[in-house]
Amino acid sequence: MRELLFLSVLCGIFTSLLGLHAGLVSGAVPQSQSQSQSQSSYNLIEFDNVGFYGTFTPVKKLSDVEEDSCTCEVGDATWFGGDNAPLDEPVSVHFRGPLSLSKFAYYYPATIPTSGSVSNWTRMAYYDASEQTSENVTFLTGAGTTSPCLGNALTYASSNGTGEADSATVLEDDNFIYSDDEFVIFSNISCPSSGYDKSCGVYRSGIPAYEGFAGTYKMFLFEFTMPTETKENNTSYDYYDLPAIWLLNARIPRTSQYPSNENCSCWASGCGEFDIFESMNATQKNHLFSTFHSYQGIEDISTGIQASAYIERDTEGTMMGGVVFDYGGETTVFLSNSTSFSDVIESSDLESIISGISASEEYTTTLATVSATASTTSKSSGSSFHKKPGFFNSIIYATMVVLNLLL
Ligand SMILES: *[C@@H]1O[C@H](CO)[C@@H](O)[C@H](O)[C@H]1NC(C)=O
Ligand SMILES: *[C@@H]1O[C@H](CO)[C@@H](O)[C@H](O)[C@H]1NC(C)=O
Ligand SMILES: *[C@@H]1O[C@H](CO)[C@@H](O)[C@H](O)[C@H]1NC(C)=O
Ligand SMILES: *[C@@H]1O[C@H](CO)[C@@H](O)[C@H](O)[C@H]1NC(C)=O
Ligand SMILES: *[C@@H]1O[C@H](CO)[C@@H](O)[C@H](O)[C@H]1NC(C)=O
Ligand SMILES: *[C@@H]1O[C@H](CO)[C@@H](O)[C@H](O)[C@H]1NC(C)=O
Ligand SMILES: *[C@@H]1O[C@H](CO)[C@@H](O)[C@H](O)[C@H]1NC(C)=O
Ligand SMILES: *[C@@H]1O[C@H](CO)[C@@H](O)[C@H](O)[C@H]1NC(C)=O
Ligand SMILES: *[C@@H]1O[C@H](CO)[C@@H](O)[C@H](O)[C@H]1NC(C)=O
Repeated sequence: MRELLFLSVLCGIFTSLLGLHAGLVSGAVPQSQSQSQSQSSYNLIEFDNVGFYGTFTPVKKLSDVEEDSCTCEVGDATWFGGDNAPLDEPVSVHFRGPLSLSKFAYYYPATIPTSGSVSNWTRMAYYDASEQTSENVTFLTGAGTTSPCLGNALTYASSNGTGEADSATVLEDDNFIYSDDEFVIFSNISCPSSGYDKSCGVYRSGIPAYEGFAGTYKMFLFEFTMPTETKENNTSYDYYDLPAIWLLNARIPRTSQYPSNENCSCWASGCGEFDIFESMNATQKNHLFSTFHSYQGIEDISTGIQASAYIERDTEGTMMGGVVFDYGGETTVFLSNSTSFSDVIESSDLESIISGISASEEYTTTLATVSATASTTSKSSGSSFHKKPGFFNSIIYATMVVLNLLL
């Protein structure tokens, strides 16, 4: 297995040297081991084997942003790899109505795990609507100037989440947003200036630019409602009564969340999106799906990798739950009324939050093992490559990174 892997990586390195790797991001590997159960309702959806070695192309240049001649250029393919990659990159947290948010929390491991799972989670960002607590969060929304290729620019969100404010503003307690309306949460750490080699990459000028929430291992918790839309359905909606909470590689919204040209964000090249709770279509509007939009064993990034299971949208009550990106590439989405937002969550606390969910309400799916996405035939089924990153693989990854830097 390792020899095969090494060959495929060498292949990858050669294609890198030839400068061809940007087009070879996805492996032609079928999504593996999905359970044959039909779609039904769960309170916990787990994805195993999450994370792979691959590339995306960061945006290098945005030109004539507000002119019809608006264009974007991408730079060289950038490698990522390891547990949860590419969702190990800093992410922004997105909300679409009909929805209200009463609590949000972001957690980071107290100590980085080397086996098992994260033992203690430390809260590093927090919003509580009724207390009007806001720690390490910045609310932004797309209320800025429009661009033919980038869409609307990010601005600070006013207290209702959708208006424009002059400076960072805490979302009000009664923060219900309607269908199609969106706001985003970033950290409160300002980005350095826009630049290809800077931590936030190139971003649209004039926006309030903040860092996303970092960590290979991280957890996001939410208390929210998604009531049925009360406004009339008319043709002006893109997402009528389709609420969602999702994560994007934070680079995406800082250049363009809804570009007309794929090179205006790193999304199409696979820098990462994870939909935590997403209502997909009118037929199943009360079913919340979880989906990775990455190239881990698939070629159609728009469809992505979705579990054949959903969490029921409670249109009457308040929902609590979130997502854990844990050691070994285990991503767990759950809904539980025992969810706590305390400043430390020990693994035993998380256990008890989740233990109320019975086994029949849990669904597990395993992502394809992709040894190195630069090769199209490198499926190594049954391999535990990502579960045990180990010394050998670290060297390969380091080699890939070094070569990438040299190119
Ligand atoms: C987790 O945190 C608790 C305190 O909240 C501490 O007693 C315990 O030793 C920590 N465990 C680990 C593995 O760090
Ligand atoms: C960011 O949030 C933290 C936690 O609330 C706070 O201590 C810090 O002062 C904030 N920084 C800025 C620049 O607002
Ligand atoms: C949100 O607030 C803005 C002002 O910041 C206002 O113009 C807009 O009408 C408000 N939206 C709703 C739905 O109330
Ligand atoms: C805020 O979140 C950022 C992004 O993950 C993190 O680096 C930073 O340490 C956090 N700040 C505080 C005060 O916890
Ligand atoms: C559709 O409904 C929205 C929200 O109620 C309203 O602003 C808009 O004018 C309506 N559009 C049409 C074409 O009726
Ligand atoms: C809303 O209207 C669109 C057509 O404009 C239709 O496709 C969709 O099914 C409707 N949604 C609901 C929830 O009725
Ligand atoms: C995006 O950039 C690539 C690489 O530079 C180029 O081949 C492709 O045509 C561009 N796509 C669009 C839609 O401009
Ligand atoms: C609605 O979305 C679900 C989940 O992606 C999918 O299985 C189903 O086919 C979709 N239904 C329609 C009518 O598009
Ligand atoms: C949470 O409690 C409400 C009632 O308060 C109930 O309707 C709902 O089903 C519970 N949710 C979960 C995930 O158990």
